Amino acid sequence: EGELRGVIALDGPSGTGKSTVARRLATLLGAGYLDTGAMFRAVTLAVLRAGVDPTDEVEVTRVAEGVDLRMSTDPADQDVRLGDDTVNAEIRGQAVTLAVSAVSAVPRVRELLKLHQWRIVDEACAGRGGIVVEGRDIGTAIVPDAPLKVFLTASADARARRRTSQDAAEGRKSTLDATRADVERRDGLDSSRAASPLRPAEDAVWLDTTDLDVEGVLDRILGLVDERGLRG
Ligand code: DC
Repeated sequence: EGELRGVIALDGPSGTGKSTVARRLATLLGAGYLDTGAMFRAVTLAVLRAGVDPTDEVEVTRVAEGVDLRMSTDPADQDVRLGDDTVNAEIRGQAVTLAVSAVSAVPRVRELLKLHQWRIVDEACAGRGGIVVEGRDIGTAIVPDAPLKVFLTASADARARRRTSQDAAEGRKSTLDATRADVERRDGLDSSRAASPLRPAEDAVWLDTTDLDVEGVLDRILGLVDERGLRG
């Protein structure tokens, strides 16, 4: 029943329940929590605010290099800021969602965020002792030596349903069909890009969440944490 030692890498496409699971897991394990998707979204927002075309690699890189991105790693208070501006809600909006795959395909953006992610992970491991990091390339590119890597999957239908109810809960209008199309479009782009595409690490544990609720997913992962002796 101790606290997490080290890093849990949680990867997978959107709509698999990754964020909910990662945050709950961090809370249960007394660990930090890092949503790397929120970092790509925040850079994308800065790109849009600067009036830059998200497919213009040179201009996107210029914006990314000047961005003052601040991430909280407290699972109870997930604050994302650009300078002093809290952007938690805005980064979930449709404009950012449509542009984020283009921005996250730019190699220099990934490089800059990787350095930032390393700093956050090091600080969390030195401070709290451990951190749950969610994204697309955590187990393959960011923390390849993580003692536990989980790759979450779910059917396209289940993922679209979850996204739609999440949108409704957070006051965004969306339909199941449009959301399903968007989820599939974004997964296609994220999986096919040249720089760190979405793919499972060879030593990742696959977890299909189609027929599991959050508690079920948490049970499985906590079982793995204890099997591997990751609580200090
Ligand atoms: O998890 P999310 O839907 O908030 O992520 C937003 C986008 O960011 C996603 O379409 C792909 C990109 N992303 C990435 O390329 N690498 C990560 N580690 C996390 C997210």
